[in-house]
Order: sequence, then C-alpha cells, then structure tokens
Amino acid sequence: MSLKDQFGKDILLTGWGHSKFGKLSDETLESLIVQVAGEAISNSGLDPKDIDEIYLGQFNSGMQPLGFTSSLALQLSADLANVPATRTENACASGSAAFQQGVKAVLAGTARNVLVIGAEKMTDAGADVVGAALLGASYEVAGKASSTGFTGLFAEVAKHYGKRYGAGISGPGFENGLSDVLGSIAAKNHHNGMDNPYAQMHRDFGVEFCRTVSEKNPMVAEPLRRTDCSPVSDGAAAVVLSTSVTGGATAPVRLAGFGHANDFFPAEKRDPTEFAATRASWERAFTMAGVGIEDLDFAEVHDCFTIAELIMYEAMGLTPRGEGARAIQEGWVYKDGKLPVNVSGGLKAKGHPVGATGVSQHVIAAMQLSGTAGDMQLANARRGAVQNMGGVGIANYVSVLEAL
Ligand code: COA
Repeated sequence: MSLKDQFGKDILLTGWGHSKFGKLSDETLESLIVQVAGEAISNSGLDPKDIDEIYLGQFNSGMQPLGFTSSLALQLSADLANVPATRTENACASGSAAFQQGVKAVLAGTARNVLVIGAEKMTDAGADVVGAALLGASYEVAGKASSTGFTGLFAEVAKHYGKRYGAGISGPGFENGLSDVLGSIAAKNHHNGMDNPYAQMHRDFGVEFCRTVSEKNPMVAEPLRRTDCSPVSDGAAAVVLSTSVTGGATAPVRLAGFGHANDFFPAEKRDPTEFAATRASWERAFTMAGVGIEDLDFAEVHDCFTIAELIMYEAMGLTPRGEGARAIQEGWVYKDGKLPVNVSGGLKAKGHPVGATGVSQHVIAAMQLSGTAGDMQLANARRGAVQNMGGVGIANYVSVLEAL
C-alpha cells in the first residue's frame, strides 16, 4: 500500500536542510529559518518561485518576544512574496504538525511544492523563562511555579513506571533496575551523537557516568539525572514536499504513511505508564503504510527524557507493555541491533530546539534513506520511522518513510 494507492499521488521529500543544533549565539530565529529554507529549496532542485506554501513549526510560548513568525522564511527571496505561510504550534511536536499540514496541502492538491520548516531559539531567554515556557505545555502546571520544570513531569512518569514494572527489570549489568536502563539509553544516544555533525553534544559519557549521580551528573528530578534529559537548544531544519522530482541534489525519499493522535490533556485522564495516543499514532502510520514494526530498518523517536524512549519501545510495539527494558538489555536498539533507535543521538545528544525537532527527525531519516547520512549511515536503510511528541504523550505524530 502506498499513498498513491490511497490518495492518487506520492508525497516525496525532495530536498532538505539542517542547521547545527546547540547554543547558537551568533544566530537569530530568522537567520536559522532562512539558512535551512535556502538549503532545502536549493537541494530540491526548485527555485523559491516554485514554492506554493510554507508551514513553520515553532513552539515559542514566550521564549522569543516575536510571537508572529510565519513570514520570516520569506526573507530568503523576493520570489517568496505572497506565498501563503502559516505557523503551527503543538508544543514539542510543532515541527511534525508543520510537516503533516504540508503533506495534507499537497494531498489536497492546493499546493504542488510545500516548504516545511521547524525552528526554535531557546537560549536567548533565561532558564526561568524557558522553564515557564515549556511548562505552558502542561495542563496542571502551566503558569505555576515549579522547581523541577518539565523534567519533573517526566520524573513522575518514571516513578509510576518504576512502581508498576521496575521490579521486573533485572539481569547482569542491570542490578539497579530502571535506573540502569535509563542510564543505558542515555549512554547509547550520547555515543550515537558522536557521529552526528549537527548534534549539540559530542560527548561520549559512557554507561557508568550516565547511570551514576555525581557532581557532573546531578539529579534534576528523581529518578532523572542530567544525562536523562535533552538539553536546551537552538536550531532549525527544513524539507521540501512535492509530488514529483525536478532533479535536485538529493535523492528523494517517499512518505509511506503518517499518523497523528492527541490524548486528553488532564493527567488524571491518562495512564502515565502508557502513552496511549502515541501508540494510536504509530498504529495509524503503520496501517496507512501497510507495514509493521518488523518492516522498519531504523527509528528516530522522541527521547526528550530517557523514560520517554523506554516507553516508546512499548508504544511502537517493539515489546509488550512493561517489557521495554528488553530492547536495550538485549541490544535491539543499538546501531548494530535489529532496530537501531536514535542513530542521530536523538533529542538527548542532538539537542531539542522544540519546534525544530520533528522536522529534524524527518531530515535525518531522509538522509539515512538517501544514503547521505555520513558517519551516521546505516547499511541497507530502506524504510524508517520518525516519532515526535508534544507534552507528556499529548500530541503525537509518526511518519513512515521509504527509499525510492
Ligand atoms: N545532558 C547532558 N549534559 C548536559 C545537559 C544535558 N541535558 N545539559 C547541560 N549539560 C552539561 C553542559 O554541557 C555543562 O557541561 P560542562 O560543565 O562540562 O561544561 C553542564 O552540564 C552544565 O550545563 P548547564 O547548562 O548549566 O546545565 P543545567 O543544569 O542548567 O541544565 C538541564 C541541565 C538538564 C536541567 C537542562 O538542560 C534542562 O532543563 N533540560 C530539559 C529541557 C526540557 O525540558 N525540554 C523540553 C522537553 S519535553
């Protein structure tokens, strides 16, 4: 099954751009957007005049004073005058929201070529402003004081998970149960990030450092240590969506299926140990693509905190509920495992400029599938998935992408 069978046309990712992620003091939100937009259009073989519509994913929520950013991409070229541009906001999934709006515009036939951008500039604001902005994505804590920020919300998830399933985690090298599993996920992603030239953190901390609370790796919100958290980041990524190829610099990649599901916002209406709507978004994407988890060669998933990646192993169907630890204990999700997860380093090492993340994941997957991922390249990467999440499992997006 392909999108062509279902909707009468293919959606191709024909060009992409990616900035370095990190604390980018010399860049502005505008300069990042213009950089990646230019790269993506140029690599697609199109000219700015060929772009019919623009979607920009950005969370903002007070991190930047400019609250109206949809037109910033037009700064790239006078030929973008009058192009319709819209900003999408769905917390940390704002980038994938932009991607799927772009897909729908092409499927609807209202646009032939759509430029999708994700961007965020977080480090201009102080830690208190960033913390308050991120907590704007919590039903319970928005607008309230918190000493642990968004980490505190995922720490609660980890505590619930540990209480329900922690006792079942054992085995040589995992004597400290859930704590060791989370430390191993952090170490894996930091190790993978060494091969990603766009990554914010090129630091191969190793398993022992990530598993141990120390002066250099303090507890942020028990049981999550600093190495269990994604960093605060600046960055941008962009991709051009088209129905056909015009002979660009990058080998195009096909979208095979996509899914989106939102959960209820109040925590009391959700089981904290199951990202139920995340699971629904995976199932929708798999159904549309006509494939299952066993058909994937890799996945880029939303490891904003290591506990999120652990629960993702279950939500994506790699293991039954409560058994996600097996995926890391048995080596399945390492670069040489049966389903490499976050070969880019994930949000953990690559960085998490929130609005940029979803588009970045699509770009990294497109690089893998077009054989242009450099040191990150996996052998025989023919089909991969990306998963992006806003809030604590609230806004969920999955795409399945294939090599042509
Ligand atoms: N992982 C690993 N190391 C990190 C790190 C992270 N997430 N964040 C910072 N560091 C390192 C820095 O490189 C620095 O190292 P150095 O001393 O060797 O130079 C050191 O830790 C101190 O950096 P600093 O920026 O002062 O750390 P911090 O304690 O202020 O912030 C966190 C660390 C984890 C609290 C912060 O990154 C954070 O809040 N992350 C979560 C962001 C978030 O909630 N995003 C939304 C998710 S849905």
